[in-house]
Amino acid sequence: MCTSETFQALDTFEARSDDIVLASYPKCGSNWLLHIVSELIFAVSKIKYNYPEFPVLECGDPEKYQRMKQFSSPRILATHLHYDKLPGSIFENNAKILVLFRNPKDTAVSFFHFHNDVPDIPSYGSWDEFFRQFMKGQVSWGSYFDFAINWNKHIDDANVKFILYEDLKENLTSGVKQIAEFLGFSLTEEQIETISTRSTFQAMRAKSQETHGAVGRFLFRKGEVGDWKNLFRETQSQAMDEKFQECLAGTSLGAKLKY
Ligand code: A3P
Repeated sequence: MCTSETFQALDTFEARSDDIVLASYPKCGSNWLLHIVSELIFAVSKIKYNYPEFPVLECGDPEKYQRMKQFSSPRILATHLHYDKLPGSIFENNAKILVLFRNPKDTAVSFFHFHNDVPDIPSYGSWDEFFRQFMKGQVSWGSYFDFAINWNKHIDDANVKFILYEDLKENLTSGVKQIAEFLGFSLTEEQIETISTRSTFQAMRAKSQETHGAVGRFLFRKGEVGDWKNLFRETQSQAMDEKFQECLAGTSLGAKLKY
């Protein structure tokens, strides 16, 4: 899905100042955020998000960036890349960046199920095997912790806003409102409420076949906080706690994450 030719072409990608970048490690809820932002864009511009391209910026053929020049503004650019690996034009043009995080234990469990449930992508022999690889960062898009360390350096940047999956779960309306404010979109309370109602797990799962085709039911699996308790062994939980301390203790992101 991510060839070296596409990565080379990505360097030449021409961002616009009104592009909206959605950065997240896999399985942190990127499709959720994409849905919320596309609903917000529709509310303010009546432009329906209906991209003929796979939404992840770094995936696809190298010509996709040429085709993306035809897309109307504001474009949504979802990515699982580190800040340092994004094309420079994103920063030169001051595009806004939403960074979505989820606690690493639930992220790992969601990632494992995705690999093992979806046909046509590699599956793992067992949860224990996946856990070992996840902790070593030898999974698609690399280490959660490297991703977190990299993005943490930009947590206070002017055009960057961090959002937590757990906060969205706790108060979706407040989350949608904060995202709208960050993007500079002026919406009524009623519009925010309507978008929140359309963005719940149940609402999105009910439409998942329509919106995401066959992979939909795997993308909207459980949508809960704390599902890690169903898979993690005590020793695995301790190992991840230690890794968390080692990588994120004392950082702004470490203090923010609902861990
Ligand atoms: P689970 O596997 O724990 O259910 P991504 O979109 O980055 O692939 O992330 C997928 C995860 O986000 C899945 O987690 C999915 O259920 C969850 N998710 C998607 N939409 C959601 C929503 N509206 N509310 C809560 N969780 C959601």
